[in-house]
Amino acid sequence: MKRTSPSSNNKRPHTPIMVDEVLKGFDGVELKVFYEGTLGAGGHASAILEAHPEIERYIGCDKDPDALEIAEEVLSPWKEKIELVQGNFADLDLQLQERGIEQVNGFFLT
Ligand SMILES: C[S@@+](CC[C@H](N)C(=O)[O-])C[C@H]1O[C@@H](n2cnc3c(N)ncnc32)[C@H](O)[C@@H]1O
Repeated sequence: MKRTSPSSNNKRPHTPIMVDEVLKGFDGVELKVFYEGTLGAGGHASAILEAHPEIERYIGCDKDPDALEIAEEVLSPWKEKIELVQGNFADLDLQLQERGIEQVNGFFLT
């Protein structure tokens, strides 16, 4: 399946790269709480959520509100698990602290 997302400044479609390689990195790992700092339109997120139904919370951060709007729609099949954060992943500690999360099992930036 081809996945697209906007670029942060010109809205051109973006295709997530190396999806198979990313999935391989989490192969066999039990993921409960996952943090992605560059959610984009949710292409990697949907692949990870599909491959890991055990995920309970998927925190998706992006600085671009347009990307988050698309991600919300793309990730609607998992809407109970998704928490969208508009911000900078540099503020990861604060974002997790605000949600009462002390640790994550999976972390991803691309
Ligand atoms: C390559 S795209 C992400 C692709 C995404 N993982 C996917 O599956 O489609 C990069 C994204 O990172 C976001 N971004 C870049 N720097 C960021 C930062 N410091 N904090 C949060 N988001 C950032 C951009 O807004 C853009 O949506």
